[in-house]
Amino acid sequence: MEQQKRYGHFDDQHREYVISDPQTPWPWINYLGNEDFFSLISNTAGGYSFYKDAKFRRITRYRYNNVPMDNGGRYFYIKDGDTVWNPGWKPCKTPLDFYECRHGMSYTRITGKKNGVEASVLFFVPLKKWCEVQKLTLKNESSETKSLKLFSFEEWCLWNAATDMENFQRNFSTGEVEIEGSTIYHKTEYRERRNHYAFYHVNAPIQGFDTDRETFVGLYNEFADPQAVMEGKPRNSHAHGWSPIASHYIEVTLAPGESKDFVFLLGYIENEQEEKFEALQVINKQKAHALIAELDTTEKVDKAFAELCEYWDALLNIYKVRTGNDKLDRMVNIWNQYQCMVTFNFSRSASFFESGVGRGMGFRDSNQDLVGFVHQIPPRARQRIIDIASTQFPDGGCYHQYQPLTKRGNNDIGGGFNDDPCWLIFGTVAYIKETGDFSILDEMVPFDNQPGSEVTLFEHLKISMDHVINNLGPHMLPLIGRADWNDCLNLNCFSWDPNESFQTTENVSEGTKAESLMIAGLFVVTGKDYVALCRKLSEYSNNSEYSEEAVRMQQAVDAMIDAVKKHGWDGEWYLRAYDFYGRKIGSNECEEAKIFIESQGWCTMAEIGAEDGMVAKSLDSCKKYLECEHGMVLNNPAFSKYIYEYGEISSYPEGYKENAGIFCHNNPWVIIGECLAGRGNDAWSHYAKILPSYVEEKYQTLHKVEPYVNCQMVAGKDAFKPGEGKNSWLTGTAAWMWYTVSEFILGIKPDYDGIRIDPCLPETASDYTVQRKFREADYEITIHPNGKQKGVKSITLDGAKIDGTVIPYSPGKHTVDVIL
Ligand code: BGC
Ligand code: NOJ
Repeated sequence: MEQQKRYGHFDDQHREYVISDPQTPWPWINYLGNEDFFSLISNTAGGYSFYKDAKFRRITRYRYNNVPMDNGGRYFYIKDGDTVWNPGWKPCKTPLDFYECRHGMSYTRITGKKNGVEASVLFFVPLKKWCEVQKLTLKNESSETKSLKLFSFEEWCLWNAATDMENFQRNFSTGEVEIEGSTIYHKTEYRERRNHYAFYHVNAPIQGFDTDRETFVGLYNEFADPQAVMEGKPRNSHAHGWSPIASHYIEVTLAPGESKDFVFLLGYIENEQEEKFEALQVINKQKAHALIAELDTTEKVDKAFAELCEYWDALLNIYKVRTGNDKLDRMVNIWNQYQCMVTFNFSRSASFFESGVGRGMGFRDSNQDLVGFVHQIPPRARQRIIDIASTQFPDGGCYHQYQPLTKRGNNDIGGGFNDDPCWLIFGTVAYIKETGDFSILDEMVPFDNQPGSEVTLFEHLKISMDHVINNLGPHMLPLIGRADWNDCLNLNCFSWDPNESFQTTENVSEGTKAESLMIAGLFVVTGKDYVALCRKLSEYSNNSEYSEEAVRMQQAVDAMIDAVKKHGWDGEWYLRAYDFYGRKIGSNECEEAKIFIESQGWCTMAEIGAEDGMVAKSLDSCKKYLECEHGMVLNNPAFSKYIYEYGEISSYPEGYKENAGIFCHNNPWVIIGECLAGRGNDAWSHYAKILPSYVEEKYQTLHKVEPYVNCQMVAGKDAFKPGEGKNSWLTGTAAWMWYTVSEFILGIKPDYDGIRIDPCLPETASDYTVQRKFREADYEITIHPNGKQKGVKSITLDGAKIDGTVIPYSPGKHTVDVIL
């Protein structure tokens, strides 16, 4: 194995990842902000900020796929004599005497040292505030007095990130700014319909500024050598059109040992229509002044930072494990939960792989994300469920995505992904089990956001199930529609036109026989959940309608199980689908792609045919045909050519993305299948392969992307470079990894009436303890595996033995002892 260079390490005590070399194999980023105001920040301070919606309210500009990579961000230039440097190394790339980037929970601290000066910047978004704080501390560690010239830099985006990068005939004439003291205001389009502006402020007097990019940088210079900085002379430019920026210029003198703080603030303000201006063309700055006043000293900033840290302490105190294995504990207690929160906030919209203009909130994605954060912020999970359900249609179908700002379904993408409706049940059931809040089912929720169309959320769940039942194909298996979980298995698309998007091209679904085994498994899993929910409702309400509904749906689930056994089994594994013409996909009879992971995952989770050995065979086939050093690939063998009848899946080169890449997202499905089957050794070995902390130890260079979070895809065994990761951060992998480890491996599973304990562990597991806050209770649960992989022998609650595996819920502190 090639020796892998290391670029950083975990600091669990501070819940940080510490990067010690700025030239990481790819920008290693972090996210700031928890509600409304958000930023992405790389380990060299690249990235951008936005308010709620990365497409429609982009505050600062960022150019994706640029040369060099990750160019543009919030930059501090320090001119010390003839040397100009940045604390985060970029963009000047002046070699530093010391560099460190600490990515923590919603904050990043970047420190650089050069010629006896230390510059440390703490970046974070304070709770409930619409701004990014950048607290810069300059310290003179030399024995001489230092006279430094400090320049800040941000480039404004003209709000709509999509038109900002294309409509130049207009853009170059619209840019407007105002300058007042140490604050630069960006007010493009404020004169007309916008009710918002942004500002960049520093809590110190400035000796100059710039707001026009060309004047500051110079037409033939770059961010690496802006003319104003190189000459040490701000131009005091006032932008009119072209590209407005914000740069402060400050002269700083530091005696030996002296240090000074500067608080920079990037803020966003909205004004009522009637209160937009204080005079003709002069923006009303009242709210900006107020926001600045809340954060204009080091003390106030430190307090806001402490509040943010407390917020994270509280979130991460809800589920905490001590296994003695640091690599597992740090993922469970810190990074996996953190990634779940980030995916909740961003869905699939803004990362270094998602440009923020393409995709909004996915119907399926957002429901899956729920299981990752519902224990931490149940009220926001509740709201999210209502928002998602509001984009459904009366027949149970739904928009595939919606925009976070408007919460409206996205017409550009449309609907017809036939797995989508089932996910609403998955998300809602997880919410109720966590909270015990059945009242959510009575909420009145509209269709397609149309006022007047409201029915109860329960009704939405019902039509979600019915949508599958009403759309069965010739084998009584679910019709796939546009696609199922695999957005690239486009069985009704038939495209030969490279200008068409596989994702949006009109489907030829008239007369289709294309059916999905993945949806079949998903329907059985969520159907069982739905039946159990109906039974609970009938138990609590004594309303026989619920028990009748339970019976009706149980029949549909049983029929689906029969259909899978009859038409969905290939001998050694579950088939994947039937195509438009009714031909098998994912069968030993096929030339390529004989086996797919999705149907193995869902049908084993559904335990279809377990009694006939189907589950065990399917799991064995995953090990035999899909597994490799870096995880399980999506299909095998990979497609070597484009197949018109299959669509985008066969468009990818072998080993990448949906064509036999390792989709970390669906590995957990098989792992859960293993857990349900009681095969703890296998479950663990699959899990550890895609667990970031294990990858971090071995493959920092090869893997490329951030070693502290999961990525969507790792190049599979057929790829040019197996093991190379892509699409980090925003992926259903986060929630699925969490769900898998917290509920199925460690075995702490919220249920309607309490917590179910049912771990599935490798034989080598030692005793471990989980501290779990659950509703108004606080449990300390110690598990003694005794070399067993599965099977709870006894549970003692507060010293007394209980029957069964569910700890009955009661508020207060409890100690639980579990023997396998
Ligand atoms: C990608 C999928 C993604 C889809 C939706 C495809 O190009 O391969 O992973 O879900 O686009 O935008
Ligand atoms: C990424 C999408 O966000 C997700 O919804 C989809 O299921 C996978 N790609 C697989 O295509």
